[in-house]
Formats: sequence, structure tokens, C-alpha cells
Amino acid sequence: MNFQRKLEEQRRSTSPLFNDRKLKLGTFCTNLSGGCTMSEAEGMLQCDWESSSKLARMADAMEFEAIVPVGRWKGFGGNTNFNGEGFECYAWAAGISALTRYSSVFATSHVPTVHPMMAAKQAMTIDHISGGRFTLNVVTGWFAPEIEMFGAPLLDHDRRYDMAAEWIGIIQRLWTEDEEFDHDGEFYHLRKAIVRPKPIQKPHPVVMCAGASARGREFSAKFADIGFTNLEAHDLESMRVRVDAHRKYAWDEHRRSIQVWTNAYVFQGDTEKEARDYYQYCVFEKGDWPGVENLVSVMGINSQSIPAPVLTKLKEHFIAGWAGYPIIGTKEQVVEGLQTLSNAGFDGILLSWPRYVEGMEEFQRTTYPLVQQAGLRS
Ligand SMILES: Cc1cc2nc3c(=O)[nH]c(=O)nc-3n(C[C@H](O)[C@H](O)[C@H](O)COP(=O)(O)O)c2cc1C
Repeated sequence: MNFQRKLEEQRRSTSPLFNDRKLKLGTFCTNLSGGCTMSEAEGMLQCDWESSSKLARMADAMEFEAIVPVGRWKGFGGNTNFNGEGFECYAWAAGISALTRYSSVFATSHVPTVHPMMAAKQAMTIDHISGGRFTLNVVTGWFAPEIEMFGAPLLDHDRRYDMAAEWIGIIQRLWTEDEEFDHDGEFYHLRKAIVRPKPIQKPHPVVMCAGASARGREFSAKFADIGFTNLEAHDLESMRVRVDAHRKYAWDEHRRSIQVWTNAYVFQGDTEKEARDYYQYCVFEKGDWPGVENLVSVMGINSQSIPAPVLTKLKEHFIAGWAGYPIIGTKEQVVEGLQTLSNAGFDGILLSWPRYVEGMEEFQRTTYPLVQQAGLRS
């Protein structure tokens, strides 16, 4: 048995992320106002504990493998100040862990906002609260106004990943080494550092990274167990190529087999027309177009960098569900959408709904049994 396989065997006993289900599922961004949808339509997610915990309990009841919050410190202005209210991820994950029994609970951590000593200790604590179900999602930050609230400028893109590599390296040592150690690196200096007790997951909690650039993908391949890939095209063949490339890179460069996930948004109706009409209403009539303009411009995406029609389509996807894969239609079509993503080779999908609580309740009641019948969860 190779080393990687051995690690999976050890963690499989507590983390559902290594179960045998064909398609793993999760929720995305249930800790922030608006969830994944930038719209003034009625029923968008509020940032309150009742909603967060209700969504987590539903995910847990359906044995979703992942409950993934978004790390966000400030909203995007516009008409809704999208994601402007939010729960801090480690504290949120501790609370959600205590309410759930099955799902892996993630904390999304911006590297420059948390010292690695603190991150390792908090993660270890949540791993104990959850009984070995914690996952650390490492993000380097890109939204300058939120990182600047911490009194330091956002580093250049590739330097952020240099810092992240040192950060996660220290954390992994703190999780696994029994002796105190000194660390003198480029970004951090630690004296006689130690974390006790050790996390429940051996050798350490699962790590996720959603880096999409060459440096981000390299970081994922080297350190993460779960990598995310964004989608430029939604046809089966392009997605298949993208997933294969992500997986192959990790194997070729680092001899590591990593899972590949993406995110998708669900607009479900009793008929396809009803679903499409609601999409039209939510995105075009009530969508927060000034907010999405702020979002893409801070990302450095504009009509100089990509053609105008492509930019408009991208904004539409951001409004509908954080630029995920679109799943729009009847409950049967929702199952078909998930089937397509599974056929493309994805290990798992993070889902979101515009009216998050209502949409997920409907999914649990009417759609999830069909997802099971289709064999996607066996
Ligand atoms: C599923 C998913 C979750 C993400 N979560 C966050 C987050 O919570 N906070 C954040 O600042 N960025 C988040 N990102 C952005 C990524 O960390 C990353 O910066 C982005 O995909 C661009 O890749 P790059 O950093 O390699 O350029 C997320 C991206 C994806 C696809």
C-alpha cells in the first residue's frame, strides 16, 4: 500500500470525504449574507445562526460530505453589499461541528490573516469537536480591501503562494511532530513551537485548495487532498479535459492522487419554464449588477482582458451562483446535471440555491431521492 493510500485509510474512518460514493456533495457559502447569489430577489440567505444551522443539519441528514464556508471579511458594495455580513470561519466551523454528525466541516482560512500557530491550534480543536471531520480550506486572498483591513497590503499573486507554502508547512509540522521545533523562514519565525493534543485525523486533517492559476494548481497538487477547478466551458468534453489535467498534474509532479471538485448552482422548478423564468427574474430583473461590476473589477477582469460578451456571461454566472456550473430545470434535470458532472470525472460538487433554505428543503424532499435512485450516491 503506498503512503498516500495509507493516509486515506487512516482518515477514512472519521472523514466522509474518503467514502466510496460515486459523487460527493457539499454546500457552499452558508455562512454569509446572500450565500452564492447576488440578487435583490426575495428569500436570499440571511446571515443568522438559525439559517446556517438549518442548512448544515439538512446537509448532514443527506450525508453530504462537505459543508464549506467562504472566508470573507467585507462585502462587495453595489445594491446588496453581497456577502457583507458573515460569520468567521473557524468559530462558525466549531459551532457547526457540534450540531452535525456526518459531514466534514470546513474552515476557509486566509493565509495572511491567521498566524500558523493559531491556525494549527484552532483546526486541531475543531477536529476534536467534530470527531475527526475537519477540513482546512487554504486561500491566499485576492480581495485587497478585506486584506488591507488587517493593516498589511495584499502581496503579489505568486508571493501569496510562497507565503501559503511556508504557512501550511508549519501547520503540518505542528499537527504531526511530537517534539518542539524552531522555524526561521521568509515569513514566519517560531520558537520551540508545539501543538498538543494532536488532531484526531491521522496524520492530519484534510486540506483543500481552490487555486486556479499555475501557482495555485501547483500548491494544490503539493499540499491539498482536494483541489477545485473553475470551469471555462460547460460541455462534457471540455470539463473532462480540465478535470483530468488537474488530477494528472498532481500525480505527475508530486505522485499524489487528489480529488477534483467544482461548484454548481441549482434553480429548480416544477417545470423547466418555471425554473428558467425564476432564473431570469433573479439574475436579470433583480440581479445586483453594480455589485458584480465591483466583484469582477477587483478580480482584474474587464473588457480589455476578455471579450465583452464573455464578460457579460461571466457576470451572469457570478450573480446566479458564484460562477458555478448552471443546473436549471425540473428535479429530473437537476439529477441529469449532477450526472453530467459525475461523467466529467468530478469527485464532488458544492451546491448552492438562490433561496438557499427553501431551495435546499425542496432538494431534500423531492430531488435527493432521485439522485440516490440514479446511483450517484452509491
Ligand atoms: C470553491 C471555491 C472556494 C473559494 N473560497 C474562497 C474564499 O472563501 N475566500 C477567498 O478569498 N477566495 C476563495 N476562493 C478563491 C480561490 O482561493 C482562488 O484565489 C481562486 O480560485 C483563484 O486562483 P488563484 O489564487 O490560483 O489565482 C475560492 C474559490 C473556489 C473555486
